[in-house]
Amino acid sequence: MKPEITFSRSTKQPSGIAVILSGSDGKGSSGSEYADPEDVAARAAKIAAFSGKQLATVDVIAPAGSSADRILIVGTGEADARDEQFWIRLGGRICGAVKNAKRVTVWLDMQGSKSTPQEAVNVALGIMMRAYRFDTYKSKKNDDDKPKNVKFTIITSSATSAKRLLPQAEAVAGGVALARDLVNEPANILGPVEFAAHAKALARLGVKVDVLTEREMKKLGMGALLGVAQGSARPPRLAVMQWSGGRAKDKPVAFVGKGVVFDTGGISMKPAGGMEDMKGDMGGAAAVIGAMHAIAARKAKANVVGIIGLVENMPDGNAQRPGDIVTSMSGQTIEVLNTDAEGRLVLCDALWFCNDRFKPQIMVNLATLTGAIMVALGKHHAGMFCNDDALAEQISSAGKATAESVWRMPIGPEYDKMIDSKNADMKNIGGRFGGAITAAQFLKRFVGETPWAHLDIAGTAMGSVSSEINKSWGSGYGVRLLDRLVADNYER
Ligand code: BES
Ligand code: MG
Ligand code: ZN
Repeated sequence: MKPEITFSRSTKQPSGIAVILSGSDGKGSSGSEYADPEDVAARAAKIAAFSGKQLATVDVIAPAGSSADRILIVGTGEADARDEQFWIRLGGRICGAVKNAKRVTVWLDMQGSKSTPQEAVNVALGIMMRAYRFDTYKSKKNDDDKPKNVKFTIITSSATSAKRLLPQAEAVAGGVALARDLVNEPANILGPVEFAAHAKALARLGVKVDVLTEREMKKLGMGALLGVAQGSARPPRLAVMQWSGGRAKDKPVAFVGKGVVFDTGGISMKPAGGMEDMKGDMGGAAAVIGAMHAIAARKAKANVVGIIGLVENMPDGNAQRPGDIVTSMSGQTIEVLNTDAEGRLVLCDALWFCNDRFKPQIMVNLATLTGAIMVALGKHHAGMFCNDDALAEQISSAGKATAESVWRMPIGPEYDKMIDSKNADMKNIGGRFGGAITAAQFLKRFVGETPWAHLDIAGTAMGSVSSEINKSWGSGYGVRLLDRLVADNYER
């Protein structure tokens, strides 16, 4: 579905679905008389024992005197519990109720509480995120599945300011949709070169994009990343995206993403069951490109760099073997004891390159790095590993604000010992226990003194818990988190 969203102060001719809000205190939308002249909403709510609980709904056929077809009553709960996430989820809930309507009108002002521009725009954001579909490869679309151009009109006394803010929400929703598309896209279509082309496409938003080829990476000495790539027929890429919306002298904020377009495990091959999910092993890179889209499209007043390491992990006559020793760009050597622990090998060169080239004020990397993080945290939080308390606090807050939650995990010298190697500076696995932590500890060896955080998003980027604003397999997790981190802390 492609939603078209407008704001208006009032309407006399609502058609399609009329959405009327109702709180726990019985106070409902104001100004919706044209949709519901006989107040059937109130009667229907009473019959359905509707108490106005947040996001509870009652759906009725509109009476003869209304120009609308259906009336959807949506609970708004207690006034003081209507936070930012509530309005976003409300938009999602409304969008999910559209069925075959062509028009939806929402009365957002309530008796005694006028809607703010930000609330109105958050409803729009929820609508846009819920409207996402991945149906590129469905050649036979049945009528219900066909994308429809649904027109949403949000009635609010803040219409003028909401209209002005809408492009910001569109920027964010666009970034989320881009990230979801990339995660959902199968690996036969989306190889490293094709992924890099999506990065290149951000140039139209004013992002400077450079794509490094295999030869250039060889020159830089990225032996760890290249070792992973060497088993694939498709060559690797490293995409560097720069948005310069801040002062020229401001050091950039840097985001780094794991972009393994498919992870077979390499010679240490994964079992067959569920391997198809490894088309999403570029969820970190997808979040970074999606965040760069959002940041550029809303013209953020900050300098932001996004770097993504793009490879395919395949077994092949030329693939790297367990026991191989590679030299990373940093000069540190790595004994590859398990070729399936490849994400850290890609990231270590991308992180080192990023730190060396851009001297960023902070560096945040995202990666579908370990199955162990799902064992530890399930699917509701990403794991956060961080060498700087202030940065950890900023990321936690951004996570709370966007409902892209993180949970801080430990790092420390005890764990660091677990990745020391007899034959090289380190090995790429740390043993049976604390697998997500030893992976983080590995990355930490490549970030110097720069405030840095690693987000392990293996449980949140794909196959995630369905929500009011997401029914897609690829969730787009991280896009809003990173965008918010910049908006709240790094814009001038
Ligand atoms: N891409 C996987 C991690 C993963 C697993 C992401 C499941 C999403 C869902 C990663 O490259 C990997 O294979 N990690 C290994 C590390 C191990 C060999 C030390 C793992 O988690 O088993
Ligand atoms: Mg792997
Ligand atoms: Zn992987």
